[in-house]
Amino acid sequence: VIDCLPIMRLTWKLVAVFALGMLLLSIAFDAHDIRRDMVAEQTLLNRTLQQTARGVGAAIEDLERIAGRDAAARFIAERNARGQSSIRRLSPPELTQVLSAAESARLERDGTLDRMTTPEKDTGRMLTYLRLQGGDVLEVSQSLERMHAQIRDGITAIIWQSLLLLVLAAMCMLIMGALVVGRPVGQLIAFARRVGEGDLTHRISLRGRDELAELAQALNAMSQRLADARAQLTRETNERIRTVEQLRHADRLKTVGQLAAGIAHELGTPLNVVSGHAKMITTGESNAQEINESAHIILDQTAHITAVIRQLLDFARPNKPVPSDLELADLARHTTHLLGHFASERRVKLVLAEPLPSIPTRVDAGQIRQALTNLIVNAVQAVEPGKSVTVQLRVVQAAAPSAGGQRDWACLAVQDEGTGIAPDDLPRLFDPFFTTKPVGEGSGLGLSVARGIVEENGGFIDVQSTPGRGSCFAIHLPIAPGEVSA
Ligand SMILES: Nc1ncnc2c1ncn2[C@@H]1O[C@H](COP(=O)(O)OP(=O)(O)O)[C@@H](O)[C@H]1O
Ligand SMILES: [Mg+2]
Repeated sequence: VIDCLPIMRLTWKLVAVFALGMLLLSIAFDAHDIRRDMVAEQTLLNRTLQQTARGVGAAIEDLERIAGRDAAARFIAERNARGQSSIRRLSPPELTQVLSAAESARLERDGTLDRMTTPEKDTGRMLTYLRLQGGDVLEVSQSLERMHAQIRDGITAIIWQSLLLLVLAAMCMLIMGALVVGRPVGQLIAFARRVGEGDLTHRISLRGRDELAELAQALNAMSQRLADARAQLTRETNERIRTVEQLRHADRLKTVGQLAAGIAHELGTPLNVVSGHAKMITTGESNAQEINESAHIILDQTAHITAVIRQLLDFARPNKPVPSDLELADLARHTTHLLGHFASERRVKLVLAEPLPSIPTRVDAGQIRQALTNLIVNAVQAVEPGKSVTVQLRVVQAAAPSAGGQRDWACLAVQDEGTGIAPDDLPRLFDPFFTTKPVGEGSGLGLSVARGIVEENGGFIDVQSTPGRGSCFAIHLPIAPGEVSA
């Protein structure tokens, strides 16, 4: 009972309504009873008064005949001293002061008359009149005060009884309400809260066959179905994430292949330097100081080789997205440098536009490098030899396609003087496996992977293209709090 006190508001309401109903009902019944008792009492009193009048009337007539009028008057006085009722003998003139004309006429006709005075102050009187031989009238009356007092006592007793009954009934209903309504409803509320917080393991245990128990069963079943659906969704989502990861990795490996030539070129120079100095040492003609210098150069060059290879490995290795503070200018410089050979092989000028502003962002460097690489590779593949591809970094005002108004974005744009894109192809450009390139050259994954990556990092890609003139693909990324400088 105690633990469901907070949720007993419903029970309280029910109890209040029932108690009020009971109170009204009992008042109605009691009022009826009191009225009936009052009528019965009055009838009884009336009959007693009539009997008294008849008895006293007969006695007075006899006494007056035998012992004279004074004896009769004495008898009346004695009788008044003893009994509860009071008796008067009224002469016709006195009678006219007491009775109305209509009442007198009725008395004349019937020989008797019953009446009740309207209560003066709070009590009235009941009176009976009897015509005597000789023209006088006998009046027997009794105060209604005792009767009224009885009725007042009765009403008081009834009020106390009703209150006691009410309190007892309310207590019983509260306890029953707490057990029958409060506790189950409390459990249902607790259940709903937990489901609301995402806990689908909780079950309600309500025994019985009432509607609340049925509701509990239905909720349990619902919770089970929700849990199943959630598990299914999680499985499917994981499956999807795995697939996307695999596609991205495939795309990375392809890009690594495209970069391989450039890497080999980059490794060529330091390898030449290393082998040259190694040869010098093996001839045995160098002195100790020269050997020492050569060894240092070899160390420097191998460090450079290691760094280049590590970059390639980092790029190829599948790893989880980890946002970190990133200087987009460094990333643009680095990526353009790595793709320099890829572009120059095709006699395409790959230009990094100056100035490169410093824009703070918080994104996954590896992912953004992959996206930018894909855009540059596409651009280089789209232009004729001799034309150029320009990489730009700047702050632009734009509205994200998904939601929100105009705001500032860090924008990495790849502008080419290439073939442009046919308007028919534009809507499908970012679809996975959409390619216009021959088998072996295009996989159709580049743009779809780039878009996925950029959106995962809170940004978006847009594209502007004029067939025959060129295209511009722009990666927009949120700017992190910090200083933007040119
Ligand atoms: N800079 C560009 N200029 C012209 N067309 C492009 C450009 N970038 C992408 N495209 C078009 O979009 C298609 C899809 O590109 P992408 O998803 O990278 O796949 P892939 O490069 O393997 O074909 C390309 O086949 C090409 O038709
Ligand atoms: Mg591509």
